[in-house]
Amino acid sequence: MLNKNTIDIIKSTVPVLEVHGTAITKRFYERLFTNHPELLNIFNHANQKQGRQQTALANAVYAAAVNIDKLEAILPVVKQIAHKHRSLGVLPEHYPIVGENLLAAIKEVLGDAATEEILQAWAEAYGVIADAFIGVEAEMYEQAERQAGGWAGYRAFHIAKKIKESDVITSFYLVPQDGQALAGFEPGQYVSVKMDIPGERNTHIRQYSLSDAPGKPYYRISVKEESGDLNRTAGKVSVYLHEQVKPGDVLWLSAPAGDFTLNQKDTRPVVLISGGVGLTPMISMLNTLAETAPDRQVTFIHAAQNGNVHAMKEHVEELARKNPQVSAYWVYNQPTEQDRTNQTFHKEGYIDLEWLQSKVPTTEASFYFCGPVPFMKAMNRALQTWGIAAADIHYEFFGPAGSLE
Ligand SMILES: Cc1cc2nc3c(=O)[nH]c(=O)nc-3n(C[C@H](O)[C@H](O)[C@H](O)COP(=O)(O)OP(=O)(O)OC[C@H]3O[C@@H](n4cnc5c(N)ncnc54)[C@H](O)[C@@H]3O)c2cc1C
Ligand code: HEM
Repeated sequence: MLNKNTIDIIKSTVPVLEVHGTAITKRFYERLFTNHPELLNIFNHANQKQGRQQTALANAVYAAAVNIDKLEAILPVVKQIAHKHRSLGVLPEHYPIVGENLLAAIKEVLGDAATEEILQAWAEAYGVIADAFIGVEAEMYEQAERQAGGWAGYRAFHIAKKIKESDVITSFYLVPQDGQALAGFEPGQYVSVKMDIPGERNTHIRQYSLSDAPGKPYYRISVKEESGDLNRTAGKVSVYLHEQVKPGDVLWLSAPAGDFTLNQKDTRPVVLISGGVGLTPMISMLNTLAETAPDRQVTFIHAAQNGNVHAMKEHVEELARKNPQVSAYWVYNQPTEQDRTNQTFHKEGYIDLEWLQSKVPTTEASFYFCGPVPFMKAMNRALQTWGIAAADIHYEFFGPAGSLE
């Protein structure tokens, strides 16, 4: 354990380091990838370019440093990150590499202000933080492998079916190539898919939420094609999956992970709110609820641009017809003429608090949401304004976690 002097140094230098957070993490990643180019096979290059991963790492290190004498206080955060690490295949031997390059980046950016004493204290604190992660991840690796139908690392799945769900979203039905049992999962969890794309120097790993209920002989993922235009680089993996990958091809998946999961013990009403492709974990939750909880009130709300990009609409409408406890609402911000003529949506524009309250007449419910970051910020604000307890608000980022404030 760290002594009091070390803890005092850490706590007193966190504010200084926070000020230089971006510079330090930027320099850290430059050093890391120069010294260890093999790590470019696990890190997401697009998240790096957009700075999202740098911010996530800096925030996590400082949150851990502030709580260095009571790391259990941030255990939920550690677990969330550890799920991602386990899903990607981050190993104990990677930690000293990250530590060494982080320390060197701190030294470089702070210059003379980083005394030997400060650097020594940070080296010790990093060791404690790393050990906490390694311990939590070791348990997760064991659990992923030991569970019925579980496995270690990446497992080959062949694509049994590829189904177009909307103009931009396609589902892939994935069956283990070894013909052995398939691990269960919690609705809301994701898998990592490791792709070898011809012509690419590195492998690319992406997370995809499982979009059907557990207990089927397949996993299903549903992917939005991030096609590029003049202002946007095309997405590497999603475009390859849409354009090149066909039924019969093989995808490599790690075992399901993630802490954004439906609480199935809760019997109160549940509200599932999604924007765009953020509907995937919600469909898994919805299908599970319809199969297992006929007495639980479910409100499913989906926001999309219009009917052309609205995936799985018929599926949800049929489910709502067959299950009186399920209601479904569609909110389009750019409805097409056809949407208007056929009156296929319930609200034009965006989801706002007043409208939400008209559809969900109780605060005694649990709320789950997922979608683009501005959408999630708006949902979070609306639910907080309404007075929904923090414990009843759950969300997932389709990228490195950030702040919704
Ligand atoms: C837990 C979790 C669950 C997820 N579930 C799903 C899901 O169910 N379905 C789904 O479709 N997605 C899901 N995602 C998102 C998915 O993992 C990928 O991020 C997504 O498919 C895009 O990957 P890509 O390789 O196509 O795009 P990338 O190549 O990673 O690019 C992503 C974005 O970054 C931009 N970009 C790329 N390069 C640059 C650059 N040089 N400068 C600036 N911008 C750049 C691109 O324009 C693109 O918009 C999930 C993510 C997480 C973390
Ligand atoms: C104590 C040390 C570490 C901390 C505090 C840390 C923190 C984080 C955080 C906050 C995230 C974002 C999680 C999210 O998606 O929301 C993350 C993701 C990630 N971490 Fe770590 N991490 C540490 C060590 C490592 C190590 C040793 C490796 C392996 C080289 C690693 C590799 C990754 C990768 C590949 C991602 C996903 C990046 C992406 O999708 O862009 N991390 N980590």
